[in-house]
Amino acid sequence: MQSDIKDTSLAPDGIKRIEWAERDMPVLRQVRERFAKEQPFKGKTLAALLHVTAETANLVRALKAGGANVFLAASNPLSTQDDVAAALVKEYGIPTFAIRGENTETFFKHIETLIAQKPQLTMDDGADLVSTIHKDHPGLLPQMIGGTEETTTGVIRLRAMNKDGALKMPIVAVNDAKTKNLFDNRYGTGQSTLDGIIRATDMLLAGKTIVVAGYGWCGKGLAMRAKGMGMGVVVTEVDPIKAIEAAMDGFFVTTMESATTMGDLFVTVTGNINVIRGEHFKRMKDGAVVCNSGHFDVEINLPELQKVASGVRKEVRRFVDEYAVEGKRVYVLADGRLVNLAAAEGHPASVMDMSFSTQALASEWMAGQKLSPGVYEVPETIELSVAKAKLSAMGTHIDTQTPEQEKYLASWKEGT
Ligand SMILES: NC(=O)c1ccc[n+]([C@@H]2O[C@H](COP(=O)([O-])OP(=O)(O)OC[C@H]3O[C@@H](n4cnc5c(N)ncnc54)[C@H](O)[C@@H]3O)[C@@H](O)[C@H]2O)c1
Repeated sequence: MQSDIKDTSLAPDGIKRIEWAERDMPVLRQVRERFAKEQPFKGKTLAALLHVTAETANLVRALKAGGANVFLAASNPLSTQDDVAAALVKEYGIPTFAIRGENTETFFKHIETLIAQKPQLTMDDGADLVSTIHKDHPGLLPQMIGGTEETTTGVIRLRAMNKDGALKMPIVAVNDAKTKNLFDNRYGTGQSTLDGIIRATDMLLAGKTIVVAGYGWCGKGLAMRAKGMGMGVVVTEVDPIKAIEAAMDGFFVTTMESATTMGDLFVTVTGNINVIRGEHFKRMKDGAVVCNSGHFDVEINLPELQKVASGVRKEVRRFVDEYAVEGKRVYVLADGRLVNLAAAEGHPASVMDMSFSTQALASEWMAGQKLSPGVYEVPETIELSVAKAKLSAMGTHIDTQTPEQEKYLASWKEGT
């Protein structure tokens, strides 16, 4: 079987990790069992460019059980769990192309390998697969059934392509499903970002001040969790409504320029470029820690940091680089890449259970019809089925409306 991974002898550890995650993914397990019976992807080739983690392994197992010829590569050079990649190849028979720490050339070579399989379905986390197909292999587009997109940054890129008339295949914006962003971006990123920071630095959070750049789903979760750990929280925003929301949630809102002198820890979760720049690094306290949990490694301007530090950079601990900035020390984690996936294990399986069940069901929905190019929402029936299955797995029961209540809410005649 084709593959490009670090070491197949790591498979036993990877199997344990995948099985451990599966224990917390009951909804996806049910999806896999149904797919095995119904074979919704029979004879179809599906290329997935996702973070190669234990949770993703359970997603691709479900797709394979559903009859798909699945090929998997890494959506980020630093997020691959090499033991999981080994298990996928040796135990689960899924061709995988991902090596933790792979260079840019290998990263793009792996994307090309996925494209060479002539997929009809894609799964992306950041839109690199779909954009490479459009840029370099447009001849493949007529045979594409469609794709799904997992993250905010990818959906923004795809919507921009659609607006320009450049998108030539249908895409389901899985990120925009409530069963995804309300839980994955908020609780998953919130917890795992702090987990990555703690694993990388072993710092005590209580009593420190965190500056959270961006108060979207990820920023809200992060600010909420940091507060719970005893941190003072400062938020920076560019959206006036999000800024009011952060203030009313009890956080101090200010500009990055003012926040630079306050923070012990800075985390970017904006999906935007150059949010922390040279002038900001110069104002930071001695010992400030800076990291990113947004999709691409562009939120912290590292070239400008190199400049203000006159190139003085030293690795002081795994995932921690020290820069000397005008007599002070600034620490950058994981080269400015997603700290939760580089220094920790990404989101916990329990939250990915909902994201990846939504992803698998959206792909099944797409495979069963012929949609025209564009960006589609996840159908509400899918969202409701995932939410109900998750509640049931949690052993939580909720009320059902009485016929009288249904009638009341459907009527405009009743009131005071
Ligand atoms: N680390 C992970 O595992 C993980 C998980 C999910 C999403 N993401 C990524 O995290 C990023 C944020 O995702 P989200 O779902 O929270 O997006 P979102 O759109 O809900 O929130 C982003 C927020 O950042 C704000 N913003 C933009 N530019 C800014 C600037 N210069 N300064 C301050 N704020 C600014 C926006 O106004 C917005 O409120 C995206 O890149 C997404 O792909 C990462």
